[in-house]
Amino acid sequence: MTRPSSLLIRGAAVVATPHGVHALAGPQQGAVELVPDAVVRCQGHEIVFVGRHRDHDRRFGRPHRVLEAHGGTVIPGFVDPHTHLPFAGYREGEFDRRLAGESYGQIAASGGGIVATVEATRRATAAELLRLTLCRLDRQLLCGTTTTEAKSGYGLELSSELKQLRVLRSAGRRHPVEIVPTAMPGHEIPREWRHDPDGYVERVVREIHPAIAAGRLAEQVDVFCERGVFTPEQTRTLCADAARLGWRIHLHADELCDLGGAALAAELGAVAASHLLHASREGIAAMARAGVIAIALPGVSFFLRDRFAPVRDLVKAGVPVAIATDCNPGSSHTESMPAVMALACLGAGLSSEEALVAATLNAAAALGRADRVGSVEVGKQADLVVLDAPSPKHLVYHFGVNLVRHVVKAGNVVVRDGARV
Ligand code: NIG
Ligand code: FE
Repeated sequence: MTRPSSLLIRGAAVVATPHGVHALAGPQQGAVELVPDAVVRCQGHEIVFVGRHRDHDRRFGRPHRVLEAHGGTVIPGFVDPHTHLPFAGYREGEFDRRLAGESYGQIAASGGGIVATVEATRRATAAELLRLTLCRLDRQLLCGTTTTEAKSGYGLELSSELKQLRVLRSAGRRHPVEIVPTAMPGHEIPREWRHDPDGYVERVVREIHPAIAAGRLAEQVDVFCERGVFTPEQTRTLCADAARLGWRIHLHADELCDLGGAALAAELGAVAASHLLHASREGIAAMARAGVIAIALPGVSFFLRDRFAPVRDLVKAGVPVAIATDCNPGSSHTESMPAVMALACLGAGLSSEEALVAATLNAAAALGRADRVGSVEVGKQADLVVLDAPSPKHLVYHFGVNLVRHVVKAGNVVVRDGARV
């Protein structure tokens, strides 16, 4: 029997990684181990050794392939736990209006916002949506993301929600970035249901969720619980149905005001709640008790010139913090995890170590994958990034450029010297 192909990453100044198979919280939020002068050996899709070169040579023979790190830093591949990837159309006009002083809410009320992207996404063919999604996955991969969540929610009717999720399935089959699909017909109340939001919720439960489940197109649900969007009661209805279907629960919570979304996430047994700019002290305490992971989206705060999520309060309360891009055309148009890590530090106040844990292990836990990805450890999948930098701090300290030199996905080199292989 031939052994699976081996890959040795050598010449790194340091391997920087969190440890374990669970999200890290409180004082552990910044627990990044630094292994100097280390090599990483992958066998097939798995990591089989992390440590000193000479120890490696005592235990292993010559590898089939070698990847030179050139004095760089090896970190886990980033996990982006919140994106809206399969969308069509752009909203750069809204960007200008916001620069001129209009708010996200005002623009949405005047016919822009999510509804504008819904129209463009409904019109797009599946082939066009697939092309757009693959381009975004390429940009994610070049910035070091090896696993990403992606959701529907710009369809808001059966055929378009299914179109978005089928595009994600096709994209996942063609692209090295692993996609975790989320059903989000609860992203906005579509225009045709504005007169009867409860009727739309009922339609989702009776028609859209079952069709998504029948096609095995999602493993999570997400709902935008917000004033003027879905009420806490409607959110409960949608999430109870999703739980019945066996989906993990994520929420968009307390983004524009405090609607008790953080406490609701705890009540519903959500794995994660995103945004949380306006989360109350009690809501944060409830999340800590229930073990809900907070997904901070600092790109949104920056892009909408809004306040940042209270990440220091979250860490202090013992809530594990993850970070995501929220890649979407309205509130955070970026695929770059290093960009949002820098904002999480400079804008919201995480340390660089806390941001690294947030973008790797804690993000993996938010997607139910911390047993397999999110750290550079023996037994985990070989999802690795080699940075062109002597320490992981450069990810945030050397901001606005791409320091990703190589990316390995499941033991395969998929980015070499900054280019797709
Ligand atoms: O996560 N908050 C709601 N949904 C998205 C925005 C989507 C859009 O503006 O198109 C978000 O920020
Ligand atoms: Fe979002």
